[in-house]
Amino acid sequence: MTQPIRIERTTNPKPRPKASELGFGKYFTDHMFILDYDAGLGWHDARIVPYQPITLDPAAKVFHYGQTIFEGLKAYRTEEGKIVLFRPDMNMKRLNRSNDRLSIPAVDEALGLEALRQLVQVDQDWIPDAPETSLYVRPFVISTEAALGVSPSLQYKFIIIMSPVGSYYSEGIKPVSIYVESDYVRAVAGGVGHVKTAGNYAAGLKAQEGATAQGCAQVLWLDGVHRKYVEEVGSMNVFFRLGDKIVTPALTGSLLPGITRDSVIHLLRHWGLEVEERLVTIDELVEAQKDGSLKEIFGTGTAAVISPVGSLYWKGEKLTIGNGSTGEVSARVYETMTGIQTGRLEDPFGWRV
Ligand code: COI
Repeated sequence: MTQPIRIERTTNPKPRPKASELGFGKYFTDHMFILDYDAGLGWHDARIVPYQPITLDPAAKVFHYGQTIFEGLKAYRTEEGKIVLFRPDMNMKRLNRSNDRLSIPAVDEALGLEALRQLVQVDQDWIPDAPETSLYVRPFVISTEAALGVSPSLQYKFIIIMSPVGSYYSEGIKPVSIYVESDYVRAVAGGVGHVKTAGNYAAGLKAQEGATAQGCAQVLWLDGVHRKYVEEVGSMNVFFRLGDKIVTPALTGSLLPGITRDSVIHLLRHWGLEVEERLVTIDELVEAQKDGSLKEIFGTGTAAVISPVGSLYWKGEKLTIGNGSTGEVSARVYETMTGIQTGRLEDPFGWRV
């Protein structure tokens, strides 16, 4: 039996933003969930309270050593008015894999799922219903003990906040230009690239700045050891349509096992397409682009769902992918994934909760 969740409702609800103004992660709902951890007591005091700033000691470990993890998932309102989450159990499992890697005590997954359910219910009026919008849910854990010794914190907070969102990229589902990054790397096997911790994203910002300066939306990450195997695109997993197969980089330990990645693999196989999870080199992609067999590239992630790649910049050359517009597999995957997520289409996999 999980612990009860106390609910304190706001007496001062915020104005709702217009659907056209949403962008990504700029507005936050009226409530948040908090669970505290103290060594000896364990996780305790589960509560939903009005959305508010939190006060932390400047010595809190999260500020100094980055002992923190996060998750991301979306809630939707179906045409019949039901509220659905997409595979939230996968997020709670990954949250605990991330916790484990960062030496953070595991959170009771049943309690986490119940917290998600109750928080979304309390703020259900915040779920936008315009096309391409959803309620983005951001669970995260921070280490709060005020102590500068490098050791696992003795105190933590597990918090869930929520944000009504539109498209992640201002381009929407339009193809983006991608800069192939050969100087900076995102992660190496044995490190933390396979879990969702803040440092991975901080480490990517410099390369992202470089990509922006080249007129690109994101970078394509190569592996940190050989600098030749393709790993991720921006903060997303990546798929290639090569000839009549779909290929995606294998989970070698430095890539994030995306929930959208897993769902897209299932979907493509369900359609009868051949999907290979294997090592993919940048040279293989360049060659395939030249001989015409590289038909499509798309990124997958919770935030953008599918993000088609129109061109790659590599060694001073612009390589156009397909005819530079959204490919047929990318478009079909986007339509079907968002259809399943929003309840517009049948869910043969039982992913909606
Ligand atoms: C994704 O959902 O693709 C992400 O990685 C989330 C992003 C906002 C950090």
